[in-house]
Amino acid sequence: MSTVLPDNNEAAQTNGSTYASDEEIAQAARILESGGLAAFPTETVYGLGADAANPQAIELLYKTKGRPADHPSIVHLYSIEQLPLWASRIPDDALRLAERFWPGPMTLILPKRPEVSAAVTGGQNSVGIRLPSHPVAIKLLKTFGRGIAAPSANRFGRISPTTAQHVKDDFGADVPVVLEGGPCQVGVESTIIDFASNESEPKILRPGMLTAEIISDYLNKPINFGVGAKAPGTLKKHYSPRTSSFLVPSSELTAACQDKNCAILSWHACPIPNNSSSEKQGHWIIMPDNPEDYARRIYSWLRYLDSKQLSAIYIEQLPDSPEWAAVRDRLTRATAR
Ligand code: TXA
Ligand code: MG
Repeated sequence: MSTVLPDNNEAAQTNGSTYASDEEIAQAARILESGGLAAFPTETVYGLGADAANPQAIELLYKTKGRPADHPSIVHLYSIEQLPLWASRIPDDALRLAERFWPGPMTLILPKRPEVSAAVTGGQNSVGIRLPSHPVAIKLLKTFGRGIAAPSANRFGRISPTTAQHVKDDFGADVPVVLEGGPCQVGVESTIIDFASNESEPKILRPGMLTAEIISDYLNKPINFGVGAKAPGTLKKHYSPRTSSFLVPSSELTAACQDKNCAILSWHACPIPNNSSSEKQGHWIIMPDNPEDYARRIYSWLRYLDSKQLSAIYIEQLPDSPEWAAVRDRLTRATAR
């Protein structure tokens, strides 16, 4: 059994990337201006951006991503002062969260202004807004000056990208502009909180690393999970590797992986000593035992393993505790049948 530590593998390497230059960012802004697409880093995952006020640009975005037109996209802004251009109402609790947690890995669903196009909202009367904290995203948003619609920069249904290379791997020449921003620091998509359905009872539509506990502590009231109207991130099967993947209890891990062409993601060391009889078994990857580092690396690992033509990926079941909710959610969907 070969054992790999999280940092000792090309899946976790940062290849010493430097951030996109001001000139590259200005060029990306010009492309957005002319109705084209530009991918850019955020602290959660890379986004595939289009002018949020240009329905043809959104149409091109959805066509390129392979996403159905009735799914809404998040509009990215750089300042809370831009909110009233998009939202017709900003409930007090939403504003409190915005002032406390933006820029950061949180999306607020708010009632939309009538002039916000149906192309970006998927025909709903709400709009999803986020202020990302990645410096390249902020610079792009400021240079462009208006809202950028950006779903995660992956082909529909596949694993979200957490490096510029992941975006290039997915889209190649279809998305010629990918701004470099290094590996994403959060690693899984933002927490989505819906204030549009019932503003006095906001609901979490998608868990993220900003947890329900942090939000409910800050608002000083309980917050429940809900289901969004059309939210790909809430489809039962999503974020999927092509390789058959399974969530497995710790006690069954070694028995599950009996073939040298499989991989195990565990946060325990392999219990089988490295001897010849174990050569029939697969790659044992030790994952970080804290949710932040695990989240930062999991998509890179899944993409990397997915490129290796393995027979299966076995993932050790995650703790039931709230701080693991986002990673648990993504891996439950990734392994859903
Ligand atoms: O971290 C993130 O949120 C990343 C980065 C790029 O910002 N974006 C992202 O976008 O994950 P996407 O499109 O892959 O997922 C956004 C989710 C979708 O599930 C979408 O349906 C939901 O947000 N959403 C957007 N606007 C909505 C709305 N008005 N009502 C309900 N759900 C909405
Ligand atoms: Mg996505």
